[in-house]
Amino acid sequence: MDRCVLLAPAKINLYLEIIGDRPDGFHELAMVMQSVDLCDRITIARAGTQDISLKCKHPLVPSDETNLAYRAADLMRQEFAEVYARFGGVKIEIEKNIPVGAGLAGGSGNAAAVLVGMNQLWQLGLTSVELERLGAKLGSDVPFCINGGTALATGRGEQVSPLTDVQAYCAVLAKYQSLSVSTPWAYQTYRKQFESTYVREADDLAARQNRVHSGPMVAAISQKDPEQISQLLYNDLEKVVLPEHPKVQELKETMARSPQAKGVMMSGSGPTVFALAGSQADANEMVKAVRAALPDEDLGLWVAPFNTTGIRLVEA
Ligand code: C5P
Repeated sequence: MDRCVLLAPAKINLYLEIIGDRPDGFHELAMVMQSVDLCDRITIARAGTQDISLKCKHPLVPSDETNLAYRAADLMRQEFAEVYARFGGVKIEIEKNIPVGAGLAGGSGNAAAVLVGMNQLWQLGLTSVELERLGAKLGSDVPFCINGGTALATGRGEQVSPLTDVQAYCAVLAKYQSLSVSTPWAYQTYRKQFESTYVREADDLAARQNRVHSGPMVAAISQKDPEQISQLLYNDLEKVVLPEHPKVQELKETMARSPQAKGVMMSGSGPTVFALAGSQADANEMVKAVRAALPDEDLGLWVAPFNTTGIRLVEA
């Protein structure tokens, strides 16, 4: 195989609880992640040389080693030096459909696609668990992006346990195109304001994570109960991002007023806000209502049904 094409879906957080600090400087989290059907398209081809190169037409996406997808290829080159010597480098092309700097794991999904694609191209035969382990070296959300679907993510976010697939819902994603939020800023600001609430003891930390694992959101997902899921949406990072960005708060309130919206929440560190609708038709209605209420050309709106898969190989 000389070339493969993969789809990398966006993710939203149905639940994001910050539990405490970690010795590595990251935060201990309990999250419920959900893939949605808004996908970047990644083409990976053998370069015919020893180089790694990356192309993307989106003006905000870098094509050098600051791009996580480039770093994923570089990691594969280091981890499998003999295979690299035999097969050479790769050319990566990214068609960006997921908004950038949005809290939708677009960059993490691209990196996950490079790992999955190079596993195919170099005939490595790595398992999902092995790919997730490599993904964790790149970023906290990369392991989830490999298999996607609905999953609980703990630790830094890199420990992924699959949950029952939830297919009943369609998300409307809304983002002001010119606005982006730095994830490190969001977590650092949260630490400054809420450090006193952090769980300190290891036992308490495990107890808190177990509470999420056996808690109402995971139960609602196992029971495939969309009404409950929408009542239980939660994201600690809203506490710092919404006060900093009143437009995002206003967007959230506007979406919540739509009769089709079952629940509304910010995804990850934002600034994307998502609303859950019971059907694609309801989601389309909601888009019309939000557009009419906020007629701003900078506001991007997407309809993205829940997705049960992560990275998908579509051409090989
Ligand atoms: O892992 P990733 O590179 O996506 O994380 C981006 C930033 O988000 C980290 O540098 C850190 O500031 C913050 N973060 C955190 N705790 C986590 C995940 C991310 O503090 N569990």
